[in-house]
Amino acid sequence: MKILIACYSRTGFTEILADRIAEALIARGHMVKRDRIDVVNRKSCWHLLFRQIYQYPLVGLALINSSFRHWWLKNYHQPEEEICPHDYPDVSGFDHVCIGGPKWAYTSYPIARYFKQINGLGNKPVSAFATFGGPPLNVFELELIFTPVTLQIQKSGGKPVSTLGVSSNYHELPLIWIFRLVSWILFRRPLNSFTVDSDYGKQNLKAFCDKIDGSVKSVS
Ligand SMILES: Cc1cc2nc3c(=O)[nH]c(=O)nc-3n(C[C@H](O)[C@H](O)[C@H](O)COP(=O)(O)O)c2cc1C
Repeated sequence: MKILIACYSRTGFTEILADRIAEALIARGHMVKRDRIDVVNRKSCWHLLFRQIYQYPLVGLALINSSFRHWWLKNYHQPEEEICPHDYPDVSGFDHVCIGGPKWAYTSYPIARYFKQINGLGNKPVSAFATFGGPPLNVFELELIFTPVTLQIQKSGGKPVSTLGVSSNYHELPLIWIFRLVSWILFRRPLNSFTVDSDYGKQNLKAFCDKIDGSVKSVS
């Protein structure tokens, strides 16, 4: 199967996850091409934060009320950022497309723009991957990134197949100590036990690739 891995990474962690996905898919006999998404103007992390900080009280409400969360994740304002021309603006020649980026509260702004610009996703199996600073909290991390991304895949005409989210154990803003504390309190494990090369990361990478393989078998 011919697979495209398209990735935006600001500080390099999602790029490493994209490398591991590529290695695993190549080892399974797939032909893999990479597409690097980059921004036209790199902004400071504070600038990125302030673009959506006004929404954070509603993120808080979404965390504690699931009905509101379901509505909010379909209706929040998703910021976007201009991206540079990249190698594969039309993905119709691929059998499967994997799209990844960091979690910036929800979808990162360059990936949101990528979904708007990409051609050829119609009826295509699409998988999504992400890194985030914290441990893999079901709601705050996984649901807040993969519910919007899944909707963005569907809006672009694609068919969502698989998701993979791991911690980078890194945050540009001075917040990582909070995530490390949360990891110990809620999981009784250090935050680095949820990164890409941890057992958690390897198991989830395998499950992610199994689903991609499964999507081919169900088509053929
Ligand atoms: C504006 C902004 C918002 C972020 N929001 C979150 C968040 O909601 N949850 C989280 O765990 N990490 C958050 N992070 C941290 C990144 O998701 C994390 O560092 C990621 O692994 C970076 O990936 P990269 O190296 O590929 O850019 C945020 C970072 C930035 C700059």
